[in-house]
Amino acid sequence: ARRPLIAPSILAADFAAFGAECRAAEAQGADWIHVDVMDGHFVPNISFGPALVAAIRPHVTTLMDVHLMIAPVDPYIEAFAAAGADRLSVHVEAGVHTHRTLQAISSAGLRAGVALNPGTPVEAVLELLDLVDLVVVMTVNPGFGGQKFLDSQLAKIARLRTAIGDRPVMIEIDGGIDETTAPRAMDAGADVLVAGSAVFGKGSVDAPEGYGHAITAI
Ligand code: DX5
Ligand code: ZN
Repeated sequence: ARRPLIAPSILAADFAAFGAECRAAEAQGADWIHVDVMDGHFVPNISFGPALVAAIRPHVTTLMDVHLMIAPVDPYIEAFAAAGADRLSVHVEAGVHTHRTLQAISSAGLRAGVALNPGTPVEAVLELLDLVDLVVVMTVNPGFGGQKFLDSQLAKIARLRTAIGDRPVMIEIDGGIDETTAPRAMDAGADVLVAGSAVFGKGSVDAPEGYGHAITAI
């Protein structure tokens, strides 16, 4: 079986210990660190912004994968670039000029990704596939960790894989990933798996072996 890249989401980490949580996850096998930015407007929850990205930057040596669940996006691109983000993924539902937004992210020197809500069809990103190196398929409705994986998205992942063809574009699956759902997402064509509660819900920064077991199990 192909081995996925694992991107633990710090939304499920100890908010009083982000630096230590990131170091522990990396030491225990995380490939990327996933940062969920929520604005209480595009999604019904508020998490954190560019200042948090800057604060954890010295504690993360791997790729910082920033998932923007905000609208609008464009006014904040420079702030996330200055904060040290490596990748910004934006929702195709977040505005009417996603093409322009993705160009602006690349112009700022960052990798660009595009995310789809569960209710959004693959067709919504077909004209954007040459502007990104990552498509995020949400397997929960965004806003909260710990929700149940939506099986209905598996067929969409497979359709996206076909649409991508031989382009250098990875598929990231975000929401409800655990040791049961991960293999199904991989079979459908995923390359990167985000996992919040399935990683940071196990173990603690004081005893991070649990993260290692959780990451390996996925
Ligand atoms: C949902 C976020 C996810 C979330 C995943 O809005 O984009 O990244 O943190 O959490 P789990 O793995 O607990 O579903
Ligand atoms: Zn996310």
